[in-house]
Amino acid sequence: MQIATTRDVLRNAVAGLRQAGDGRIALVPTMGALHEGHLTLVRRARELADHVVASIFVNPKQFGPNEDLDAYPRQLAEDARLLEGEGVALLWAPTVAEMYPSGFATNVSVAGVSDRLCGAARPGHFDGVATVVLKLFNQVQPDIALFGEKDYQQLAVIRSMARDCDLALPEARNIIGVPTVREADGLAMSSRNRYLSPEQRAAAAALPQAMRRTIAAIEGGGDVAGALAALEAEVIAAGFSSVDYADLADAASLAPLTALGTGPARVLVAARIGGTRLIDNMAVGA
Ligand code: PAF
Repeated sequence: MQIATTRDVLRNAVAGLRQAGDGRIALVPTMGALHEGHLTLVRRARELADHVVASIFVNPKQFGPNEDLDAYPRQLAEDARLLEGEGVALLWAPTVAEMYPSGFATNVSVAGVSDRLCGAARPGHFDGVATVVLKLFNQVQPDIALFGEKDYQQLAVIRSMARDCDLALPEARNIIGVPTVREADGLAMSSRNRYLSPEQRAAAAALPQAMRRTIAAIEGGGDVAGALAALEAEVIAAGFSSVDYADLADAASLAPLTALGTGPARVLVAARIGGTRLIDNMAVGA
């Protein structure tokens, strides 16, 4: 596996991949601290394309002033070993100065789908995500790109950006969401799970369990507001300190729903346990 840390090296390496095999390239963007969820994205990418390019970049633009940018786990050597073991051809691991050279002044903002949920709780977060992902797409120019459904709103933001900007590589329809990978007790895998103490980790399983009960209640015709309020009460009773949001939304637009309609819907939750903010989402009525 080749590792590129500058745009020039990346450009040459991508050009080399384009000439080998059928030249079809998949991009798996990450911030590192890889777990089974990321490796599942890589495995799916390998099924869909000839070459997999992974990126590791802890993007400062998507962290708020009081968030965990400094604490975010960084383990490049270990991550590179894992990616190589999964058959990744090229790892793109730029520094902050390489990604945002002096004078960098552009901000990509996707209105509407970015506004609620994590967008409201983390102002500027999705602008940071959209800005870096547009750069990653232009740097690698992949045929397809894969993202975890765990960050469901992020996936919707990136798809909207690709559609609105008429991106060619990748086209919006080639931005692929991969189902969330869960621990045995149901907790969604996340690089941030490692912040949890053993007690918090045990309590964190209450989140997916409460979500499943809420979904069953909604699918059974129960009152949506009541079911979401019960979810909040259940996770607080289990040891979470607060709930940023617990929401039922249209699965495509993420517009809020007060009742289940005919189209696909999603329950989305963000909740804090100790100093750690966890997010999760699940399909409703699927
Ligand atoms: O999901 C992530 O790891 C990040 O938000 C992403 C998409 C790599 C952009 O920094």
